[in-house]
Amino acid sequence: MAEAVARTPSTPSELREFVVGLPKAELHLHLEGTLEPELMFELAARNGVELPYASVADAHSAYEFEDLGAFLDLYYAATAVLQTAADFEDLTWAYLQRAAADGVIHVEPFFDPQSHLPRGVAMAEVIGGITAGLRRGEAELGISWRLIMCFLRNLSEEDALATWAEAEPFLADLHGVGLDSNEHDNPPVKFAKVYAEARAAGLKAVAHAGEEGPAEYIWQAIDVLRAVRIDHGVRAMDDPELMERLAAEGIALTMCPLSNQRLQVTPDLREHPAKRFLEAGIAVTMNSDDPAYFGGYVVDNYLALAAALDLSREDLAKMAATSLAVSWR
Ligand code: HPA
Ligand code: ZN
Repeated sequence: MAEAVARTPSTPSELREFVVGLPKAELHLHLEGTLEPELMFELAARNGVELPYASVADAHSAYEFEDLGAFLDLYYAATAVLQTAADFEDLTWAYLQRAAADGVIHVEPFFDPQSHLPRGVAMAEVIGGITAGLRRGEAELGISWRLIMCFLRNLSEEDALATWAEAEPFLADLHGVGLDSNEHDNPPVKFAKVYAEARAAGLKAVAHAGEEGPAEYIWQAIDVLRAVRIDHGVRAMDDPELMERLAAEGIALTMCPLSNQRLQVTPDLREHPAKRFLEAGIAVTMNSDDPAYFGGYVVDNYLALAAALDLSREDLAKMAATSLAVSWR
């Protein structure tokens, strides 16, 4: 009888409640990707910026992407509304309230200074605003944090080094460096020098790799950049030797199924490799990447993957526990 009860499938709302109740960290989240259309319109009005959308609904209907590049064009255009520390604080605070409602107790978000500095926004406004939001989240929501500055890999290493130099006065508020944007033809090895400088300054390294790029880029991220976590890492599924390495060294993958679906990395979520990675002993975590654009926050990602891959409650609990274990709390 007890067994029969245990096997009774949960209703969707029971499963959601279970996943929300799991203490978890979010480790792959671009703050600029949390800009919901409602806040985009509010900040556009505040800063006198003209948007390419007539309404919130119009913005939502533009969010159909054939690949990463198509998404990034739209995503970087929207950052024009972010101009002052107050804007970055509002953005961060809005995200943290959503995260708290999903049972997130720790965050390690990314931000992209190179999408702001060229528009004349000072690093102090960007980092000052983000950390004000994070401190408010810590005080009012109990969410602890570490902050990761990303370099745009489609730009040169010189540009990354100049950005790193601009960040030096703010190192006390930075815990890691990351690498994002267009992966095609922008291998991790291009950023060996700036990563070496960041590591020498005591920061940890992560990098997006194996999202649209090949498994080879994951090897480079580990061996050249010394990344301790790989963001996405989907293409590790093509390379059994790499899967063994990830498992043996406890190098976690910060996976984002709804992003992978929306950017056509794994259009059919039933083919997502997360379950194969779990079975291979790899540390897999669930994250939302750019939730305002990809149709869901972190719990939505757990649930979408659970439905597609028939994951058990144990699998879900394991990924949540792993997210805290591989975090930098
Ligand atoms: N990949 C690369 N760059 C990004 C992403 C992503 O999924 N989201 C925001 N910048
Ligand atoms: Zn990402």
